[in-house]
Amino acid sequence: MSEKLFGLNGKVAAVTGGTRGIGRAVAGGLAEAGADIALLQRNTSQVDIKKEIEGHGRTCHIIPCDLNDKEQVKAAIPSVVEAFGRIDILVNAAGIQRRSDAVDFSEEDWDDVLNINLKTTWILCQQAGRYMVPNKSGKIINFASLLSYQGGIRVPAYAASKGGVSQLTKALSNEWAKEGVNVNSVVPGYIATDMNTALIQDEDRNQQILDRIPAGDWGKPEDFIGAVVFLASDASRYVHGHQLAVDGGWLGR
Ligand SMILES: NC(=O)c1ccc[n+]([C@@H]2O[C@H](COP(=O)([O-])OP(=O)(O)OC[C@H]3O[C@@H](n4cnc5c(N)ncnc54)[C@H](OP(=O)(O)O)[C@@H]3O)[C@@H](O)[C@H]2O)c1
Repeated sequence: MSEKLFGLNGKVAAVTGGTRGIGRAVAGGLAEAGADIALLQRNTSQVDIKKEIEGHGRTCHIIPCDLNDKEQVKAAIPSVVEAFGRIDILVNAAGIQRRSDAVDFSEEDWDDVLNINLKTTWILCQQAGRYMVPNKSGKIINFASLLSYQGGIRVPAYAASKGGVSQLTKALSNEWAKEGVNVNSVVPGYIATDMNTALIQDEDRNQQILDRIPAGDWGKPEDFIGAVVFLASDASRYVHGHQLAVDGGWLGR
């Protein structure tokens, strides 16, 4: 029963952000569930996760892709299809953060954050959709944020970008659900990754955050494996345009 619902044997998943943090855990989890993996990665000399995936008996190719490079981003999904002959799952897990008081926030930081978090997500979704929609099958999973709902503090570009990811997910779902393509997003709460080193090291801010999380602790990258495998599998056949929170209860409070 669980293999039929959640198994990913024979599927090909393209993953951004697979070198570190949540994306890395998720890429490994998809491979454990049976998927072959294309890692869309800028640092092609980082091969640890590729080896880990191959250790699960899966095929893995690193597709060179600096998400700041529009031409590489546009070429990435066609390269996945060329390497594997197909694409069944796209996970947009890469993301960046920049923090500054809004009055000092630079235009460069604004452009970088909007470009990587929102525009490249859109381009990769569109490129994947060009294969998935005619095939009447596919799973797209975007990484949104609590800041898809809330404004955050000193992170105006990030909040704007993640609000956009949430809306983009729904917009694509409205077009592609009837084509057999599920477009959903995952909403992480506060997760202990490199992105949050500054917050974790700030004792006061760290305590404020912990006091606000019903689960009482930071989340871990591994907490996302179940949610992403679910959204990538047949188990989520009728789940469309959903924002799946993995947040220790934050949004319910
Ligand atoms: N951590 C949280 O609390 C939290 C909360 C809400 C939402 N999220 C979202 O969840 C996702 C994963 O977050 P995370 O905390 O796991 O992030 P992370 O540990 O900071 O890792 C970021 C990933 O994005 C990749 N990346 C960044 N810029 C890139 C570029 N120009 N080209 C190619 N890859 C690039 C990084 O690759 P390199 O190794 O090459 O730098 C890395 O794999 C992100 O979308 C984030 O916004 C996280």
